[in-house]
Amino acid sequence: MDRIREVDPVAMSISVDAGAILKNVQDAAATAGLLLPLSLGAEGSCRIGGNIGTNAGGLSVVKYGMTRDLLLGIEAVLSDGTVVSDMRKLRKNNTGYDIKQCFVGSEGTLGIVTGAVLRLAPLPIRRATGWLKLAMGAPLAELLTLVRRESTDLLTMFEFMTARSIALASEAMTNPPSVGAGAGGTVLAELTSSSRHLDLDGLMEAVLAEAIESGWIEDAFLAQSGSQRSAMWEVRETIPEGEKRRNGSVKHDISVPLSSIQRFLDLAGSQVRSYDADLELSVYGHVGDGNLHYNVLVPPGVDRIEFTKRIESGLSLQLYDTAAALGGTFSAEHGVGRFKRHLLERYGDVGRIAAMRRIKTAFDPADIMNAGAMVRPLGNGSAS
Ligand code: LAC
Ligand code: ZN
Repeated sequence: MDRIREVDPVAMSISVDAGAILKNVQDAAATAGLLLPLSLGAEGSCRIGGNIGTNAGGLSVVKYGMTRDLLLGIEAVLSDGTVVSDMRKLRKNNTGYDIKQCFVGSEGTLGIVTGAVLRLAPLPIRRATGWLKLAMGAPLAELLTLVRRESTDLLTMFEFMTARSIALASEAMTNPPSVGAGAGGTVLAELTSSSRHLDLDGLMEAVLAEAIESGWIEDAFLAQSGSQRSAMWEVRETIPEGEKRRNGSVKHDISVPLSSIQRFLDLAGSQVRSYDADLELSVYGHVGDGNLHYNVLVPPGVDRIEFTKRIESGLSLQLYDTAAALGGTFSAEHGVGRFKRHLLERYGDVGRIAAMRRIKTAFDPADIMNAGAMVRPLGNGSAS
């Protein structure tokens, strides 16, 4: 159940059992000089089947997309034992409904995925990693546009962190780098190239000089070594741990169209202040994808469960309303499961939920696949 079935370096694809551990699939691709462009904190233990069920994203979605964008073929078993066998490595195959995509982000509600074919990319051999200290009110979307255009779209990561989130991560690290945040927070940006012929550091320096000239960033550091790069990334990846060590947070995994991200930050900021001026936030996330983790910190000494209940029945809905009004979503990458079913009912399009329930009914009429998550089949009470 965890075998690498085949790497095809010409078709640039890898076929695996769904039980294969993500890291092992990455390693098998790298051995063939290729990249499986899915990278996340849990890669040493998470499995491909889980990545498909949750439509995992991670840190390089801005370049390569989510799991959905990497899936070429699938093998799955439906609740009545029907085997769907479509382990093709084709880029083009217009022969009807794209059944494999039904399983992506299905959270185990439609069947059991047993195999997958994933798209690979050339393996990057050069990286330029920049720590961009943002000026107050720096326009994130415009900065992203500039970096993408002027790097000829070699951007693979673009992560935003507020000063508060960086401080929380630094407190949880044994050896935090002394890089600091700008008045408007920090962006951690990385360009990658599979070519030896490109001066990636020079390109990054020129792009950053332009951003400094525009007044969007106060200052920027370029990682000078692999260990500096890792230290910068460790700050980003330690933020959730930093929040936990303080007293946890109430998480809002929102996304809005990039053109509205600044507006969301402004509106949400005033909602939080008028709800309770003493609340503290930890805001960070995958801004390259329009995805923010807009987390409200549980004040020290306060009961976490009580506080979470209070925020989730009040402020959270205001924040989700704001995201929804801007054309965004209440769950960018963390799914629906059981806890967010009421939010799907509140914010989901009626026709889309009806279509989801029909798909659930067609695949799993008896409701035995992860029953209770996401949606109910038709004829089984309300959607939730
Ligand atoms: C992250 C997880 C919380 O971005 O989604 O660190
Ligand atoms: Zn995230």
